[in-house]
Amino acid sequence: MQLLSSSSDFALQPTVPRAQPTAQAAAQVAEHDAAEVVIATKLFVPNPREAPIARPRLQEQLHEVLDTLLTLVVAPAGWGKSTLIAHWLHQGNLTAGWVSLDRADDDIMRFWRYLVLAAGHAGGGVGAAALHRLDGAGADVERDVLPAFVNELAAVPGDVVVVLDDYHLVTNPVVHASIVALLEHAPPQLHLVLGTRSDRRCR
Ligand SMILES: Nc1ncnc2c1ncn2[C@@H]1O[C@H](COP(=O)(O)OP(=O)(O)OP(=O)(O)O)[C@@H](O)[C@H]1O
Ligand SMILES: [Mg+2]
Repeated sequence: MQLLSSSSDFALQPTVPRAQPTAQAAAQVAEHDAAEVVIATKLFVPNPREAPIARPRLQEQLHEVLDTLLTLVVAPAGWGKSTLIAHWLHQGNLTAGWVSLDRADDDIMRFWRYLVLAAGHAGGGVGAAALHRLDGAGADVERDVLPAFVNELAAVPGDVVVVLDDYHLVTNPVVHASIVALLEHAPPQLHLVLGTRSDRRCR
């Protein structure tokens, strides 16, 4: 596990540029016919600023994401976590899944729906089987969804990078436990990046 923490000072701008949809992301969400409506914009990778102040040390550290199962990007509010990760993806021309988490994602089924959809955006056609399980009557994430998801990831030829941003908003121990279970079973293709203001719940 890798811990990155932001420490350099820079001038903060009042607004974050609007996220842009990728054609693939928007189409996949539109096609996703499930009981729960998904907010497509939560799955967009934020557009990085045009000329962000360079943070070479942190950018360099992020290269290790592809060698690591779990990367934590930890810093207080407004220190540039989302910008850093989005800029790194943009610079490396990397296709990744992204979820901008909110308080409503403390629900295990909802959290996993966004996680699986994001993984699908990362490429490789991952997620159909896991979503099918998620929508099954009486579905249980660890029993039904997680195994299907892991098996789909294991069959993908390349890396699957998924960013879960604002993970500090997740407080439900059941959700945390499901991430631990995923990490225990994840194949080497998966690279999870958690952007969070606190790593207290990740230890
Ligand atoms: N490298 C940078 N150069 C210039 N401005 C930056 C840089 N990084 C972040 N900013 C600006 O600082 C503000 C906060 O950045 P950002 O949203 O990435 O922070 P954050 O750590 O993700 O915050 P939060 O915890 O609220 O999600 C934004 O307006 C962003 O444009
Ligand atoms: Mg952020």
